[in-house]
Amino acid sequence: MPFIEARNHYIEKVKSHALVGQDLANLWSIYEGKTSFVDLGCGNGHFLSEYLKLHPEMAGLGVDKRFKRIFKTAEKLQRNESLQSRVIFWDVPTFVQDSPAEFWDEVWMQFPDPWPKDRHEKHRMVTKEFFQQIYRILKPGGRFCFRSDCRSYWEFFQIENSRREFFPIVLSQKGDLFETEPKTLFQRRFLQAGVPIYSLQLRK
Ligand SMILES: C[S@@+](CC[C@H](N)C(=O)[O-])C[C@H]1O[C@@H](n2cnc3c(N)ncnc32)[C@H](O)[C@@H]1O
Repeated sequence: MPFIEARNHYIEKVKSHALVGQDLANLWSIYEGKTSFVDLGCGNGHFLSEYLKLHPEMAGLGVDKRFKRIFKTAEKLQRNESLQSRVIFWDVPTFVQDSPAEFWDEVWMQFPDPWPKDRHEKHRMVTKEFFQQIYRILKPGGRFCFRSDCRSYWEFFQIENSRREFFPIVLSQKGDLFETEPKTLFQRRFLQAGVPIYSLQLRK
């Protein structure tokens, strides 16, 4: 057994959980023909599970690259009986590249790690390529919903959108545009610490 598997007992739990997608090929058929959203970097699944309670007509997918977080999210989905929803252990930039075009009604990205130093650039999920993929994978009329403590990401999406003329309808706010929707775990922490947040909705 590779060292990492011996160390992390969540790997086995994730592999055998009914609500964890194991590969992309089988995943798309779960969402086809449904009103669906994906939460990129879903963490422990607080937002995903609460949003599904408010919008039971939707099928949701969480994507993250931490086994423990994937397992906790899957357990929340199971407790809620959100059985048409899934979580998957996948790299977000790869996921958006491989997702079918015009597939999702909503793409959420909330509080991605800022990685402010130049030498950490390779870790950033917010890139020009990522932005282009988000536009590609949304259905016509679909929306990209973004919340962050990182002002430069918020500005980046708006500048990139003006430059490329992708999304015709833009809502932007210093603060939370999605006040009536559930908060994420990181958002609660930032609110408690008095950290300002920025939000954006781009509609295709
Ligand atoms: C700061 S946390 C925010 C979690 C959640 N969205 C929230 O607001 O509470 C960022 C999350 O993105 C995930 N993440 C970072 N880079 C990723 C990548 N390349 N692919 C998948 N998930 C990634 C991390 O594992 C972590 O759960």
